[in-house]
Amino acid sequence: MTNYLCRCEDITLERVEQVIAEGKSTVNDVKRHTRVGMGRCQGAYCISEVRRLLEEDEHDPMTMRPPVRQIRLDTLAATVPPSDDD
Ligand code: FES
Repeated sequence: MTNYLCRCEDITLERVEQVIAEGKSTVNDVKRHTRVGMGRCQGAYCISEVRRLLEEDEHDPMTMRPPVRQIRLDTLAATVPPSDDD
């Protein structure tokens, strides 16, 4: 049975342990090499486990970025209120 550490990105515990054994020593290093924490939940379920494996302080910040997904232009345009010129 596969033991997924990050369910959003299908990253296994073994893959994260391998990256740490290769010398990656911060959450951001592990994230860059595996995509752990970059899924839909943005690390809500997996980053604490990575921190535990690294024995890293919980207050060290991870670089956060908003999730990227495609959006239709008409959907985006609908969010802009009409101006007086329209
Ligand atoms: S479980 Fe890792 S990003 Fe969601």
